[in-house]
Amino acid sequence: MDRGIGILETAEHLRNYYWLSRRSIKILAGWFLRFRSYETKYKLAYHLYDTSEHVSWLLDRLGEMRGGNPNASIRPELKELMEAVLSAPSDNAFLAGYYGVLQRSLIAAIKSDIEKMDTSGNANEIRILGRVLEDLESQRNWFDSLGLEWENSKWVGYLQQYVAFIGGLHGSDERESRPEDPEGMAFSRPSRILFDERIQIGPLESYESRSSMERQQATIEQFKVFFNEFYAAALLAGVLFDASDEDYPWALLADFSRHFWDEARHSEFGSIRLRELGCEPGRINPVLFEESHGLPVLHRIAYLTRGLEAYFMPRKGKRFKEYESSGDHRSQFFADQDWSDEINHVRYGNKWVEYLLQDDHRDLDDILQEVKDHLAKVRKQPVESIDAPF
Ligand SMILES: [Fe+2]
Ligand SMILES: [Fe+2]
Repeated sequence: MDRGIGILETAEHLRNYYWLSRRSIKILAGWFLRFRSYETKYKLAYHLYDTSEHVSWLLDRLGEMRGGNPNASIRPELKELMEAVLSAPSDNAFLAGYYGVLQRSLIAAIKSDIEKMDTSGNANEIRILGRVLEDLESQRNWFDSLGLEWENSKWVGYLQQYVAFIGGLHGSDERESRPEDPEGMAFSRPSRILFDERIQIGPLESYESRSSMERQQATIEQFKVFFNEFYAAALLAGVLFDASDEDYPWALLADFSRHFWDEARHSEFGSIRLRELGCEPGRINPVLFEESHGLPVLHRIAYLTRGLEAYFMPRKGKRFKEYESSGDHRSQFFADQDWSDEINHVRYGNKWVEYLLQDDHRDLDDILQEVKDHLAKVRKQPVESIDAPF
């Protein structure tokens, strides 16, 4: 008889889920840069995009609800919890904290809501939470498949105790005592993208030298450049990390979450195709990412979308046709997906550079000039144009 959760309580729960998801974007972006295994980086990128969709669905529903202001009365304890999850002391501690503790609490809370909800009265929420739950369970299954022995670490104990201390995600459970904060908890945006020992950092073949190679070797070198799109994903991870703490419209983070995921996928295309061609991915040249570390969000967006992606664009159609005429349909397939995605990326760049330059005395050319001035300082030599060494 008592089924159903009223609007105010539902709005409060959705707001908590919204907020946890929104902060998860920052956490996943930060750990994308820091986590050493590149296969796990790909997973984090897929999960970040899932999470960005969850934020959009939750915000849409909150916008329709009485008492649905998404930013009203988020408990400071939830903010602290997410700072703690971000500040994990090691790669495996991060996985244990994020997937083992936080996500399991989220899955349990959402399931408990759905069980209490009325299939007609709460139909809107059941629909959204059901979809979120499906994604979270598939992420959890991936984490479980790693077979880590994660339950008994000090870090996991700390986070579990913290969740109990704040009375669960909604603050409505009985509260336990506050755990002692572990020492040295802090996380700042990494200025380098980390990899494990399988990946060497170093230069790639230039476009000109690839163009004069015989076909098979040129294709391998080309997919090494795909694998290297980690540099673009890293640049966007930095943008998402920083933008999470600033007052940008959600639509900007949503677009760049998508862009970020696309670049991680393009790198994944590289790893898949290299293996098919009998070659293990083994090299990254992160220079374009590292040189941009000190630039503001606007400049990094303009540099990538209106500088670098515009620079690479003329190669895309040409490459697609070369694979077609040589009958390499598998390479052509990946080149096709990449080309199509790139058109969107330039579109995102146009839209958000224009938005961010509203009421500014500068235009795009001024921003790109400021980028070149920055690069000249970093490289200690004049920079006339935006280009890439590969
Ligand atoms: Fe790309
Ligand atoms: Fe792109």
